Amino acid sequence: MNPKRKIYLETYGCQMNVADSEVVLSILDNAGYARTERLAEADVALVNTCAIRENAEQRVYGRLGEFKYLKKSNPGLVVGVLGCMAERLRKDLLQSESSVDLVIGPDEYRRLPELVEHALEGEKGIAVRLSRVENYDDIIPLRTDGISAWVSVMRGCDKFCTFCVVPFTRGRERSRTVKNVVREIAGLVERGLKEVTLLGQNVNSYRDQETGSDFADLLAAVARIDSSLRVRFTTSHPQDMSDKLIATIARHDNICNYIHLPVQSGSDRILRLMNRTYSCNHYVGLVRKIRAAIPHVSLSTDIIAGFPTETTEDHKMTLDLVRQIQYDGAFTFKYSPRQNTKAWQMGDDVPDEDKIERLNEVIDLQREISLDRNRALTGQPVEILVEGPSKKSAEDFTGRTETNKTVVFPKNDATVGEYRLVSIDRVNSATLFGMLLPASTQRKAANG
Ligand code: 5AD
Ligand code: SF4
Repeated sequence: MNPKRKIYLETYGCQMNVADSEVVLSILDNAGYARTERLAEADVALVNTCAIRENAEQRVYGRLGEFKYLKKSNPGLVVGVLGCMAERLRKDLLQSESSVDLVIGPDEYRRLPELVEHALEGEKGIAVRLSRVENYDDIIPLRTDGISAWVSVMRGCDKFCTFCVVPFTRGRERSRTVKNVVREIAGLVERGLKEVTLLGQNVNSYRDQETGSDFADLLAAVARIDSSLRVRFTTSHPQDMSDKLIATIARHDNICNYIHLPVQSGSDRILRLMNRTYSCNHYVGLVRKIRAAIPHVSLSTDIIAGFPTETTEDHKMTLDLVRQIQYDGAFTFKYSPRQNTKAWQMGDDVPDEDKIERLNEVIDLQREISLDRNRALTGQPVEILVEGPSKKSAEDFTGRTETNKTVVFPKNDATVGEYRLVSIDRVNSATLFGMLLPASTQRKAANG
């Protein structure tokens, strides 16, 4: 019997890519390929790529350079580029001096077995059609068992924010069915899952075409699978955050009180240029509504520094908004022009030094705010889901609060996957530190 051909897969970019990689591995597993963690023994090396910013692409190019070098000693190695860069750059990736044999976009993964087989026989391949319907709803992703999983519930994006390539690389919005999402998660719960994050570029646009269920319905259905399962979701667009969704989060104890709600900028003029379709006023009103319905909610955001035409005044408005909202965390990015987007045509007129300075100001401000918000938890017990050993010390374990804060504590009698209370005695802007309380202490005694 032929030994199984071995696939090595590396994933870059967002959690959606991590989830897609599990779909890819499932498709290849069903076709008889084996997975390897060791590049040296691979027959096929795949990279699932991100195109959201220039530096994400540069990292992948660096890696492809290493694969090219490897091919010198292993000429039979098949190299494939998957995901958003494949979709964006298409046949450019196959140019003669590159090491790439396969280019496969996010909606073409079902064709992987056929294309990989041909590539192993020496034939280069490209498949980059976007689909209006492909959602891999019937494919059970190949995951390693664990207490946490990411489950993609919708794909694509119709928002066309002017800075963003996603609508071009991932195509139009389409959703899986409630039935299949629930079935998949229920299966994982039977194997010990304790926390699930429902994923989509814009989860608020989720709609089950068969039943008409919206995202709030889906979230409630997932929360009902098991009351001890923590349910998270990302990403939400401020325009589509409905009252029904807010009420659903408030009503279900096991839907985490944590919302990632990207604002991008605090200037209405820039928001208009970004095509974000809301004003700062609307956003602030939405946050007020969320906080009234879910008092202990934690909020995080995405912010872009140096969007075309952004002035010092616009930037100050962003700082003011960040100060006003008091986020628990922020992901901050330097604007990176992407070809084919509307913003590309606006030029890239903010000098790099200014972008970096503005970015750092947002980061510093948010760090202070995060520290303040974390300090408010010192001396309190917070409930965590125990995740496992801390990266920094063998004696310590980590877990997260439902508000998505990382807690580090001496392991003692903690076991992975259980809910425990930790009394917080010290914090920094990113982490809480404390001591486990006895296991008999009741759940839900505190909000993190
Ligand atoms: N430049 C910088 N940041 C970007 N993002 C998306 N496109 C760009 C870009 N061209 C950021 C946005 C988005 C997050 C996922 O990435 O803040 O919310
Ligand atoms: Fe990109 Fe905007 Fe869609 Fe998010 S909502 S994926 S930023 S276009």
